[in-house]
Amino acid sequence: MSLKVLSVASEAAPLIKTGGLADVAGALPAALAEHGVEVTTLVPGYPAVLAKLGKKAKAAHKWDALLGTPARLLAGTVGDHPLLVLDAPALFAREGGPYTDASGRDWDDNWRRFAALARAATDIAGGAVKGRAFDLVHAHDWQAGMVPAYLRLAPLAGSRAVPSVITIHNMAFQGYFPADIFPQLGLPASAWTVDGVESYGGVGFLKAGMQLADAITTVSPTYAGEIRSVEFGMGLEGLVLARSNRVHGILNGIDTHEWNPASDRNLAAPFSAAKLAARAKNKRALEQEFGLEPGDGPLFIVVSRLTWQKGMDVLAGVLDHLVGIGGRLALLGAGDGEIEHAFLAAAARHPGRIGVRIGYDESLAHRLQGGGDAILIPSRFEPCGLTQLYGLAYGCVPVVSRTGGLADTVIDANPAALAAGAATGVQMNAVSHNALTMAVSRAVALFHRPATWKRLQTNGMKADFSWGASGAAYAALYRQLLEEQG
Ligand code: ADP
Ligand code: GLC
Repeated sequence: MSLKVLSVASEAAPLIKTGGLADVAGALPAALAEHGVEVTTLVPGYPAVLAKLGKKAKAAHKWDALLGTPARLLAGTVGDHPLLVLDAPALFAREGGPYTDASGRDWDDNWRRFAALARAATDIAGGAVKGRAFDLVHAHDWQAGMVPAYLRLAPLAGSRAVPSVITIHNMAFQGYFPADIFPQLGLPASAWTVDGVESYGGVGFLKAGMQLADAITTVSPTYAGEIRSVEFGMGLEGLVLARSNRVHGILNGIDTHEWNPASDRNLAAPFSAAKLAARAKNKRALEQEFGLEPGDGPLFIVVSRLTWQKGMDVLAGVLDHLVGIGGRLALLGAGDGEIEHAFLAAAARHPGRIGVRIGYDESLAHRLQGGGDAILIPSRFEPCGLTQLYGLAYGCVPVVSRTGGLADTVIDANPAALAAGAATGVQMNAVSHNALTMAVSRAVALFHRPATWKRLQTNGMKADFSWGASGAAYAALYRQLLEEQG
């Protein structure tokens, strides 16, 4: 039986992207199609999304007052898959990012913007739009966290019950707002309880979703375990424990069309595990692009948000060591001003050895993976992480901390794994100056053993990180929830 699922996300590639959530929301429709699930994606109508939607979009529904503002629903397609866009100019037609203004400050009305998205999703799932019925709603992160709450506590009048799944892509962002917004959410007074949307005296959007969804998923098995602890649960560990029989860890896959080194048009030279030598051309192109001198040591790369989560402050502190032992670095990223500054200062100290691009550049991200020797990902926590998966697929050996999805996808080059011919990268136990210094040293030493290094590269390139198994896991979960509902 074919299932119809409404996937609700605040970003989805290729329409709008600030991080991995967009890759995943963008990839789910294709990942699930082969399992008999038709996914329709609902995203907010930011200017960038409306521009990409084009003139073919049709108005499918209208609200006079959605959380107090007029809105309409536009229906179109993204690739071969159905797309719905919530066009609410008062909420989404503004310059800046999806969540912040141009200076990086959260929009004051984020609660209204994303409660409106959730309210719209609930109405749609309940049958408000003629000809569109959904069996289940899949909500992503706090921005869609109110969907399970509305579905449970304030469904569209007369609609049948629709089950929901919430996926936690990052527990650090919880969508926590002051109590005084509660009366404006359009929920019954009874929702103001710890079993409803109340959280530590305010309204927690992610908390509400986790409390009221039929299932909670997160993007790697290890992270699903980690969020049971105070350190990773960030205040919601009690709820994770209380609902632990409803929590599933399903690893993200990668879009193997977008990220395939044999057919990647961003690369100077396509390559594969069998034709690895061609990769050298990409490395030279990258060196030129970043103004780096050629060298015998490895070319490390970074493609990342430059934030505390990603351990980028620690990395900035080990760059003198990295250069001192013959490494070079090409970095692409943007984020905290202080961290950006630290990398720019390191580049100024080490001209020809460290090159830094502050900004966001999708094509350059591909060129870095296709030409770098090793990608550095010293995250303090990492729900899944996609850049290590892209690195593995591209023969760019990941050097990672042992947490979340990084722990689940990279096999450390310890003596046992090397002897078994199974290793794919380097892991460090802690995110500290010492641990990262040692990890970088280990990577440099391994790089100077060409046969071993090549094995690391080809092991990663031959591993399967496609959506196959994870698409099947989501489809099975959806079916299980529908069966439970009877
Ligand atoms: P997160 O979502 O926590 O930032 P992920 O590893 O899951 O981390 O996903 C990050 C995604 O964003 C990857 O697709 C990565 O290539 C991309 N990315 C991150 N920073 C940049 C950048 N500065 N330019 C281009 N792509 C970037
Ligand atoms: C979040 C996480 C990242 C994950 C991505 C997609 O942004 O930080 O680890 O890969 O979501 O699930």
